[in-house]
Amino acid sequence: MSNYRIAANVEWTSKCNARCVMCPRDKVGRPRIMSPELFREVLKRISGQDLFRVVIAGYGEPTTHPQFEEMVELLRGNPVQFDMVTNGQLLDEGRLRRLDGVIGTLIVSFSSIDPDVYHRVHVNLNHDLVMANILLANSLLKKTKLAISLTPLSDCLETLPQTISWFRESGVSALSMSPSLYDRAGALDTEEEPTTERLRQIIKDYKLHSQELDFIPSIGDVLKQWMANRVKCVPRNSDMLISSTGQYMYCFNDISHRHPIGHVSEISFREVLMKREKTVVDHAVCDDCSLKDRYHFPEMVKVGAKYLGWQV
Ligand SMILES: C[S@@+](CC[C@H](N)C(=O)[O-])C[C@H]1O[C@@H](n2cnc3c(N)ncnc32)[C@H](O)[C@@H]1O
Repeated sequence: MSNYRIAANVEWTSKCNARCVMCPRDKVGRPRIMSPELFREVLKRISGQDLFRVVIAGYGEPTTHPQFEEMVELLRGNPVQFDMVTNGQLLDEGRLRRLDGVIGTLIVSFSSIDPDVYHRVHVNLNHDLVMANILLANSLLKKTKLAISLTPLSDCLETLPQTISWFRESGVSALSMSPSLYDRAGALDTEEEPTTERLRQIIKDYKLHSQELDFIPSIGDVLKQWMANRVKCVPRNSDMLISSTGQYMYCFNDISHRHPIGHVSEISFREVLMKREKTVVDHAVCDDCSLKDRYHFPEMVKVGAKYLGWQV
């Protein structure tokens, strides 16, 4: 019986205004938009008993949702914390004021202060505009926290010190990085990219916040989750992606949405967690996934020790 809490990732849309190099858009299929009616159904499924955090992101760009303002209003008065991940291009004063206090943390993804690197990584986006929007967010947001998610790609590492300095000099101090570059179920060539070990070292050297534990509410929750699930994959089991069509997904890394396990109109969050616990490795999703060899027992102990603040 599942009695642990996890995070959910809710995809308002799989549509995106960017063509980032690390995101295999071609695998996403026809871009979809979650209607406000469907989102109301999602919200009915969300409770603080099952979830400690809901991230609005998925594979698209939430700010491109045609009813963005209406969707934001629906977040008010819900029992869990909502965070949002965005590329920042469509944040303006009106939107930032609307988000303030409704979203817990607004996370802007950013690759580099160098325009050439930025445009190579964040293809289709306007570097100057995104930087201006970040500064605007930093000055306008009073209740919502602003954080930056730095892209863990090798192309960004050379300019990382300058990128970090720009943020710190501008008063933006919550800088984070993921120690995993997901190959999105085999869709990305990660051969040339930094390993998790190297990224962890970079995170430490530059005193960045590691996103590694952002999906883990407590060690107890991870242990219960580990025991309950037949597939021993902590990243998968710590998160539930709810797609823009309202499907609960087998794994958030299933970018092609090959393996839905239920629809929000039919099954509760707790029921779908129990259903997922019984699933076995889906070779089509897992075989080429870069996360599958991570978080085996020794890795779990190491990450657990880090969580408790021990030196490892
Ligand atoms: C898929 S995006 C969706 C939200 C929004 N469009 C954005 O760009 O932030 C969510 C986050 O995943 C990150 N991301 C995308 N592809 C990735 C990959 N292959 N490995 C690790 N992180 C990745 C992005 O940098 C971003 O911070």
